[in-house]
Amino acid sequence: ATPHDLEGLSVLVTAGPTREAMDPVRFISNHSTGKMGYAIAQRAQMRGAKVTLVSGPVALDAPANVSVIPITSAMEMHDAVMEQLPHQDWVIKAAAVGDYRPETQADDKLKKKADEMSVALVKNPDILKEIGMQKRDNQTVCGFSMETRDLIENSRAKLEGKNCDMLVANNLKTAGAGFAHDTNVATLLYRDGSSEPLSLMQKDSLADIVLDRMLALHRKKG
Ligand code: C5P
Repeated sequence: ATPHDLEGLSVLVTAGPTREAMDPVRFISNHSTGKMGYAIAQRAQMRGAKVTLVSGPVALDAPANVSVIPITSAMEMHDAVMEQLPHQDWVIKAAAVGDYRPETQADDKLKKKADEMSVALVKNPDILKEIGMQKRDNQTVCGFSMETRDLIENSRAKLEGKNCDMLVANNLKTAGAGFAHDTNVATLLYRDGSSEPLSLMQKDSLADIVLDRMLALHRKKG
């Protein structure tokens, strides 16, 4: 039977990609399917937490008894997350947020003209970094990191730079890891400098391990 060990906790999860619009027809996005974040939201709910899921556009069904806030762009995700933040005990940021958005969004469809065209991009807010700067001592935050090289080095820099309590690092190029799979291969990184390499497993099982570790960190804060 599933333990109800997250009873009384409010958990915010983000999942899926964002879409950064160029015009009413086109956008810049990534291959995130939302599977990891949805698995975490579902497991947290089943373990008794009150779960809010801020989700980019995905093809998945909403998990039962989870409050879903649908968003499209990184700016919308930012606004939804920052509004929810004060009410949350935990934040788990599994979403693949677009780092840049087109500088302007045309009201009408951009027409084909010259042989070459370029799109000016501007930086989106780093939501996780903003959470890290604002979080209260009794809030516990988990970031995600997907890399194609120097996974641990890059991920440790994110853990520290964004002031997360823990970070789930996965290499896109590892077999069975990354987008669209039902499995993942991750290494968990902690602020005491330790790391925990995990074997290939279902995203549901990884979700439970992430929640176990979040609970341990939460309890340590007292
Ligand atoms: O820096 P990078 O995008 O690799 O960091 C990944 C982590 O930061 C993820 O947890 C992701 O949800 C979060 N992030 C964010 N806002 C951004 C970019 C990433 O919250 N603009």
